[in-house]
Amino acid sequence: MHLVVEHLSKKFGDNTVLDDINIEFTEGVYGILGANGSGKSTLMRILVTVLKPTSGKVILDGENIKKLDEEYRNLIGYLPQEIALYKSFTAERFLMYIASLKGLNKNEAKSKVSELLELVGLTEYRKKKVGTFSGGMKQRVGIAQALLNDPKVLIVDEPTAGLDPKERIRFRNLLSAISSNRIVLLSTHIVSDIDFIAKEIVILKQGKLIKKDAPDNLLGQLNEKVWTVLISEGELQQYQNKFKVGNIIRRENGIELRIISDTKPIETAQATIPNLEDLYLYYFDKETIL
Ligand SMILES: Nc1ncnc2c1ncn2[C@@H]1O[C@H](COP(=O)(O)OP(=O)(O)OP(=O)(O)O)[C@@H](O)[C@H]1O
Ligand SMILES: [Mg+2]
Repeated sequence: MHLVVEHLSKKFGDNTVLDDINIEFTEGVYGILGANGSGKSTLMRILVTVLKPTSGKVILDGENIKKLDEEYRNLIGYLPQEIALYKSFTAERFLMYIASLKGLNKNEAKSKVSELLELVGLTEYRKKKVGTFSGGMKQRVGIAQALLNDPKVLIVDEPTAGLDPKERIRFRNLLSAISSNRIVLLSTHIVSDIDFIAKEIVILKQGKLIKKDAPDNLLGQLNEKVWTVLISEGELQQYQNKFKVGNIIRRENGIELRIISDTKPIETAQATIPNLEDLYLYYFDKETIL
């Protein structure tokens, strides 16, 4: 399966939110990485046909999705960044309701809903109201509703925001488990979410596609760009002003800084093995990593 984005642009008034994006997706998980406002949700909303592009097109296996229309929509599953769950519904009832909206008949819906409740680990909570669920449980209901039609293209927009680390890991494993034979697009600015599971990372910056590559290749490009440096307490501010600083670790003999820099920051700096957090910092300056 090939999902191709061709010369896609989106403007809201004068504001260019997506600028001539070209990407090709095949089966597997793609991590869409970008700071707030970089256009991740807009791209996803175009891919699920909630929004129309200003120009450009999206093509699935050679056919424009505009032409495929309903046929395309039947192939996609979507977990929006802010999903409206009906809080007074039980998990089971909510999923049955969405299943009916998606056109599943009652018997189909029943077996699919119990299969998905099991998959997302909510079988024993199926009769509990969604309003009483933790953030992680709500997101699992969200992913279950996105999977009701067994989508070939699954698009999940920042699914792990607000989840605790344990819930995040669980969610990541769940996505990984369901990613075979599907295109899965996952947006996030939490880099650990896509570590291990992403086949490729797509980096958006201010509406432009700046990188799309396998994590190892992207990390390879950071060789000799990530350094550890030992400094004294008094020098910390000066280093933070001058360099992109990642981790700051207090050691007995001073402060160890992780610095992202194209050139060696000082003579005593040691090159170190880059990770995805470094990658994020490299492209997004000092914006926070959660
Ligand atoms: N319906 C809209 N009308 C006007 N501007 C919009 C609309 N939707 C998004 N934008 C603008 O488009 C830009 C990109 O927004 P988008 O939501 O796609 O970013 P994002 O990468 O998903 O950000 P976040 O990480 O905060 O979710 C922002 O500047 C936003 O204000
Ligand atoms: Mg968003």
